[in-house]
This record gives sequence, structure tokens and C-alpha cells, in this order.
Amino acid sequence: MIETAISIAFWVSSCLTLLIIALPSQYIPRRVRQETGGNGKEKVTVQILVLGDIGRSPRMQYHALSIARHGGQVDIIGYQESDPHPEITSHSNITVVPLPPHPAILQTNNKIVFLVFGPLKVLFQILSLWICLAYRTKPAKYLLVQNPPSIPTLAIASVVCFLRQTRLIIDWHNFGYSILSLKLGNRHPLVVISKWYEKFFCGWATAHFCVTNAMTRILKDDFQITKAPILTLHDRPASHFKPILDEEERTQFLASLKEVAATEAELATGDVRVLVSSTSWTPDEDFSVLIDALCRYSEIATTENTALPSILAIITGKGPQKEMYLNEISARAQAGKLEKVDIRTAWLSTLDYAKLLGSASLGVSLHTSSSGVDLPMKVVDMFGAGLPVVGWNRFEAWPELVTEGVNGRGFGSSEELASHLTDLFGNLSKLENLRNGAQKESLRRWDQEWDPIAGRLLGVT
Ligand SMILES: *[C@@H]1O[C@H](CO)[C@@H](O)[C@H](O)[C@H]1NC(C)=O
Ligand SMILES: *[C@@H]1O[C@H](CO)[C@@H](O)[C@H](O)[C@H]1NC(C)=O
Repeated sequence: MIETAISIAFWVSSCLTLLIIALPSQYIPRRVRQETGGNGKEKVTVQILVLGDIGRSPRMQYHALSIARHGGQVDIIGYQESDPHPEITSHSNITVVPLPPHPAILQTNNKIVFLVFGPLKVLFQILSLWICLAYRTKPAKYLLVQNPPSIPTLAIASVVCFLRQTRLIIDWHNFGYSILSLKLGNRHPLVVISKWYEKFFCGWATAHFCVTNAMTRILKDDFQITKAPILTLHDRPASHFKPILDEEERTQFLASLKEVAATEAELATGDVRVLVSSTSWTPDEDFSVLIDALCRYSEIATTENTALPSILAIITGKGPQKEMYLNEISARAQAGKLEKVDIRTAWLSTLDYAKLLGSASLGVSLHTSSSGVDLPMKVVDMFGAGLPVVGWNRFEAWPELVTEGVNGRGFGSSEELASHLTDLFGNLSKLENLRNGAQKESLRRWDQEWDPIAGRLLGVT
């Protein structure tokens, strides 16, 4: 009897000891002492987490660079599929902590298979994320998490932050449930659960950043966050997006691109206008809107108004529906519907993409917003390069980014897009007006936005 009791006590206490030993270490503030060259202030340590490709998460990279530039220490945690910004990899105070990629077998677009593989993928992510946040990295003062994806990031981040005494900050780019509802429909139980989950775990954060005022309003009114500060931190372009003012430099760059069929002479005489769009070729961006509009333009330019210039449309980006649309484009071209339009696709380096935006005449955004309150980063980059934009505008936050008729124009159908194209390309002074507006917009940069808002909150500025 006693022996059994002793053995039970032994096992219970061993398990408890193991559990305590296995708990992640806690964050303890350390001061940089004056005599060792410090300023007596605490060194700010921040972990930045994105459950996606770090290289394709520009905003999280800008956060990292801003923190490090102001003397903070950063761990940036995420998948390493493409190369991060060179300054990130070379900065001595930023460490890239790669998450293990999930097994290829769990990837699917099939709705039914997704329901089975989804949970398996989540299980794998939970484990690798937990190990990374709780053990592979040192405890930090702040954990800045990108949302979405929210599952399982928000839950794990909340628990780890509780155990490690780390302050959780959520950087809201959009809502996870609204993106999921694109795939599954509004009333699907998973969408309902996902909304509840997002609302529940956002309560654990000590502060929130949002990309638009409209999103800030939803967090306040709908998510009922009352205590933690909610700060709007608009996206701004990185420094490599800048206007190219020299006309010769622009034509030279365009002529040097191997994707561009037009000759330097054509570009210089203005017989061809360069239109740029970048897309992720996913179902939430209906690319046929642009194809239809370009066909309509070609029709008008060959019949009603033959003075209209040709269009060279350069489309950048990779994604699942690319092949499908390329087939569609070549079918239309063969049917003679794209006589005055040449559509090319390209995959450019970050710097060449920035130069392309600086050299083109007009940018097109087909981004449709799942929540209505997020904004396309590509339009921000286009403005950075001083490029006027026409974009899909049927969502709430659009006017927060684009001032109608000043730096861009909105459309809600391919007919509307086509009429903007004929109008702007048919009258140089109208296009020039928009370009002036976009170039004014290009003066607004990330540091001006970040330093007084995020920098102050984190205590680095
Ligand atoms: C990294 O942090 C240390 C200590 O705060 C600082 O002295 C150093 O200048 C930082 N390095 C860079 C490249 O900013
Ligand atoms: C071009 O647009 C300007 C307004 O920006 C207008 O004043 C002018 O009449 C237009 N020119 C033609 C030929 O339509």
C-alpha cells in the first residue's frame, strides 16, 4: 500500500519536474550598462513572426529593418522560400529563424481534400512553431505577429507570450476568417469558428497595428478591443521604389528588358504605352477583367479612334492560375482581338520590378478585398515609384489609398477599365495630371509613418 503511494508520488513529482524543466524560459529585462558603452536604457528585443515566406512579406521585413536601425535586436521567424531583403540577411542585429517547410504531400487546392489535409498541416505547424517560439529562440520583450494567417499562429503566440512574459503585438493585414470565407463561403462552420478564434485570441495582445483606419474601426467596434491600443500604420513603399524622372533612362530600361518586344524607337516616340500589373494569379483576383478591358481597348483603337497608341502590358507574378490565363490570352490574340495590345509576363528581381514601375505609364490593380478593409501593397509600391494607378475600387478602404482623379482612378467592371484606358492613353495631359499626383504621393515614406507610431510604442525612437 505504502509502496504504491510512494511510487505514485515519485512519478507525479517526476512528471511535474520534467514539465517545469520543459517550460520555455522567461523574458527578463536587461539593461545595457553605461560603463560598457550602453546608454542605460533597456535593449529592445523583438521577435517578428510571419507564417509565410519572409522574402514575400515586405511589411514584416520593413518592421525588422526599422527596429534594427533604431538599435533593437530582431529575430524574424518564418518560411524561407525566396531570398529576404539583402539588408535583412546582412544586418548584424537581425537573425533570420527559418521554420521547417511543411511536407509537400499536404499541399492541395481541392476543397474536400483540404478538409482532411488542413488539420494535418496545422498539426505539423503547431509543433514546429511551438518549438521555434518556445525553445529555439531566446525570450524577447515583444512578439510582433502578422495576421493572417491566424491559425495556428495567434493561439500559439498567445500561450508562448503568456509563458515567456513577452508582450504580444498583432499586425493586422487583413482578417483570417474573411480570406477563408472566399474558399468555403460565409456560413461555413470553419469560417464561423475561425472568426470566433480570431476575436478570442486578439484579446491577449497588448497592442495592435492595422493597415487601414477602416480595419482599426472594425477592431474597435466589432472585435470590441477596448484596453489595448489600436494604431493605424499605413503601408508605405520601400526605398527602392522611386520615380525615374529621366525620360531617356526610362526608355533605355524598358528596351533592355528581354520580355519587352517594343523597340527603343517605338518607346521614345510614344507609339506605345507601357501598362504594368502584378498579380498572384489566384481566384480572388479576376484577371479576365483586365483581358476583357484590353480586348475592348484594342477594338476601339482599331475602329473608332485609330490615333490611340498601342499598349504593351507587362504582368508580373507567379501563381496557380497563370497557365489558364495565358491560354486565354493566346486564344484571344489568335482570334485577332488584341491587335493593338501586347501582353507579356515577367518574373523580375525586386530591383528590376521597382525600375519597371518607375518606367511604366500606368499601373493596374485587380485586388479585390475579402474583408473590404485591407489594401493592396502593390498600389503602395506603384505610388512609391510615382506611377498612377487604375484599380478595382468596390471596397470600403479604397479611398484611404487612392484619391479619385488625383493620383489614380477606380473601376468596377471591365467596361469602366477600358474607358479609363482609352481616356488616359488618348489624352496625354490627363495621364500627366495623374502622374503628378502619384509623384506627390511617392514622397510619403515608411519611416515617417513607422517612427512616430510603431517606434514610439516599441520604445526605440
Ligand atoms: C547592433 O546593436 C548593437 C548594440 O545595441 C549596436 O551597438 C550596433 O550598432 C548595432 N548594429 C547595427 C548594424 O546597427
Ligand atoms: C485633354 O484633357 C484636358 C484636361 O486634362 C482637356 O482640357 C483637353 O481638352 C483634353 N484634350 C482633348 C484633345 O480632348
